[in-house]
Amino acid sequence: MVLRILTFLSGFLLVFSCQNTSSHETTQAQETPAEKAASLYSMHCAQCHGEDGKLGSSGAKDLSKSQLTDNEIIQMIKKGKNAMPPMEALLETQENISLVAKHVKGLRK
Ligand code: HEC
Repeated sequence: MVLRILTFLSGFLLVFSCQNTSSHETTQAQETPAEKAASLYSMHCAQCHGEDGKLGSSGAKDLSKSQLTDNEIIQMIKKGKNAMPPMEALLETQENISLVAKHVKGLRK
């Protein structure tokens, strides 16, 4: 009897966790990585760098002319430099940081 209850419970848990993953996938499908990168950039970077990277507010560097490597961009985002604040905590995940770094590179012409 105890065993039957346990089997029933684990079956229930299994169904529950599957439902969780599928709803997670649907939210991701609504926003492509590029769209997520663009909205993170607008939210956290555009006030100084501008949507096109050229604003240069508070002494911010022109991102469309930046020559930094991928790693240097990621370090800059994480640790900041002078008037550029560290963004690691705001962006929350490594994945978000890489997305934004990719977006920054895309601003170069
Ligand atoms: C408060 C204003 C401000 C915000 C917000 C800001 N930055 Fe900056 N950023 C700066 C300043 C100022 C510099 C120049 C730092 C220096 O070299 O003295 C800079 C430099 C940079 C550089 C280096 C460019 C180069 O070629 O040296 C990158 C890359 C960069 N920012 C990316 C970002 C990203 C991505 C975000 C958002 C996650 C962001 N910044 C948010 C002010 C800001």
